[in-house]
Amino acid sequence: MKDFAGRVAFITGGANGIGLGLARALLAEGCKVAIADIRQDSIDEALKTLDNHNVIGVKLDVASREEFAKAADEVEEKLGPVTLLFNNAGINLFQTIDESSYDDWDWVLGVNLNGVINGVQTFVPRMKERGLGGHVVNTASMAAFLCGPAPGIYNTAKFAVRGLSESLRYSLAPQGIGVSLLCPGLVKSYIHASDSVRPASLSKDGKPMEEEFRKQLVEVHKLGMEPDEVASKVLDGIRANRFYIFSHPEFKDELRELFDEILEEFVEGEEIPPHRAEVEKGRRAKYKEARMAARGE
Ligand SMILES: NC(=O)c1ccc[n+]([C@@H]2O[C@H](COP(=O)([O-])OP(=O)(O)OC[C@H]3O[C@@H](n4cnc5c(N)ncnc54)[C@H](O)[C@@H]3O)[C@@H](O)[C@H]2O)c1
Repeated sequence: MKDFAGRVAFITGGANGIGLGLARALLAEGCKVAIADIRQDSIDEALKTLDNHNVIGVKLDVASREEFAKAADEVEEKLGPVTLLFNNAGINLFQTIDESSYDDWDWVLGVNLNGVINGVQTFVPRMKERGLGGHVVNTASMAAFLCGPAPGIYNTAKFAVRGLSESLRYSLAPQGIGVSLLCPGLVKSYIHASDSVRPASLSKDGKPMEEEFRKQLVEVHKLGMEPDEVASKVLDGIRANRFYIFSHPEFKDELRELFDEILEEFVEGEEIPPHRAEVEKGRRAKYKEARMAARGE
């Protein structure tokens, strides 16, 4: 997609951080924009700052299928058919898996994975049916590749969003709908305040973040990239129909090191039976073809 003007964009987590940066960038391109967020105060503040008649706000918890469908209807009634979908809302829980409860899993996967699934399930059938093309951008993270002991559930969700997005890209390419995965590193944002949007129903077994650690997170996020810079890279990525949108160049060497280490895990010199090799040869050729087709090659 080269021309954004006149298209309708739906951005989850659009009231702060990366989502708000995307809203600004898309409005500047002449899009109509809906910012969907769980924080009504942030929506109100964002609408004031954006001060543009082409943007509306809608309160939405992305973990809820029903709310998602309602928000989609409301936005499409007001702005027209959505052809740019940004599944961007996310929260973080900075703790290890062995210290996590079912409530922790349900909250983090509910927002960071189910939120993306709900966005896809709600909008993709509409986008396909209308035949207007479009683009879906799912915000993952470098944590879709790089794991630590913490944040384990966040890693789990972001790895899953990566798989979901790549698979979706191949199935939507024939419809003229692109799919990209945004993988940011550190961004100036509000994500350190995630605890404040944790629903009471999933807080029973949750441990509140220690004050000292919260202060460190606030400081470290101040060093992050400006959301406007991330957004500009996202729009370039859509224009080029790139799958991976790597906004932070500081990760390239580390990914190379990681991929090399992964390849070293294969045992050298093992025999490959010809019948199996034949099956994989066919599959590999089809996979390569799908990647090329999705890039328009
Ligand atoms: N900030 C970073 O350093 C960083 C790095 C890599 C990836 N990311 C990812 O970027 C995305 C955007 O985060 P951000 O950094 O801009 O954080 P942010 O907290 O500034 O913005 C996220 C927005 O999502 C909203 N939100 C939270 N839960 C929601 C829910 N259930 N339903 C709807 N909206 C909800 C919040 O209210 C907030 O406005 C997330 O998916 C995050 O995982 C952030």
